[in-house]
Amino acid sequence: MARAGTAAPVAVHQMWAAVAGAWGEHADYVDAAADAMTLRMLDLTRPRPGERVLELACGAGGLGLAAAERVGPDGEVLVSDVVPEMVRIAAERAAARGLANVSSRPLDLDAIDQPAAAHDIVLCREGLMFAHDHGGAVAEVARVLRPGGRVAVSVWGPRDANPWLAAVLDSASAELGIPLPPPGVRGPFSLDDGDELAELFRSAGFADVAVQEVAVPRRAGSVGEWWDRTTALAGPLALRLASLPPEAVERIRARAADAVAPYVGAGGAVEFPGLALVASGRLPDA
Ligand SMILES: C[S@@+](CC[C@H](N)C(=O)[O-])C[C@H]1O[C@@H](n2cnc3c(N)ncnc32)[C@H](O)[C@@H]1O
Repeated sequence: MARAGTAAPVAVHQMWAAVAGAWGEHADYVDAAADAMTLRMLDLTRPRPGERVLELACGAGGLGLAAAERVGPDGEVLVSDVVPEMVRIAAERAAARGLANVSSRPLDLDAIDQPAAAHDIVLCREGLMFAHDHGGAVAEVARVLRPGGRVAVSVWGPRDANPWLAAVLDSASAELGIPLPPPGVRGPFSLDDGDELAELFRSAGFADVAVQEVAVPRRAGSVGEWWDRTTALAGPLALRLASLPPEAVERIRARAADAVAPYVGAGGAVEFPGLALVASGRLPDA
């Protein structure tokens, strides 16, 4: 079972804060790319009119906004992220869609500042792996759910099933001569084992726990488009790249371009495979 990360959580949160603007800029792309995941998570939790939903690690909030349409005007969705700027972007997107049933506030997965049993459903898309203590965060999810409450969480599957992200990390790692993410920092693939993921939820008291694989292919018009977007969104990596001399970044980009060559089509567009794991469960009734 994975142990807690050792990097100071505040430093990791600041890395995500640095890329909040990019998550706002690319929000529609991110939501389109994550569509299969979003639909599976909503199918598994079945939000009903009038229910209360909490979205954790919301980024630009696409999943929470989709849930808001399902719970209707009598329900409510609280979109939250540890980064206040992400929360502001998600709230603005809700307002732009006229979703009056969405509220927002900063919340940390590791210590969810919500009363016990306050929500019918908790959703978290591609966020749990960044919690400092995975087991502690899932216990927090169980605490804020009412008896009978449902959860769906998606995380990235194994590194080699997600070359669109692995190629950037591996190329930077090769150039810098250090593993990325560095030891102690929770990385995007830190919950890529379906059995361990399921056990986290069972240990926290969830029943009917299931982990499903969801194909999440990624497309880009060119290698340059893929590189620019992926490095802009990759929280902990973006700051590290920004601290390097341009020649070093160019060497990393060239290595990454070589690594993704097998996915480039005749017209220059790139089609990557991608794989997410979606864990779901429900608390026993009282
Ligand atoms: C890969 S992004 C996913 C964003 C969004 N859920 C989506 O699918 O588009 C990861 C998000 O997790 C947030 N995050 C990282 N650590 C967190 C923590 N301890 N508590 C809450 N959110 C966290 C980041 O700020 C970022 O918005």
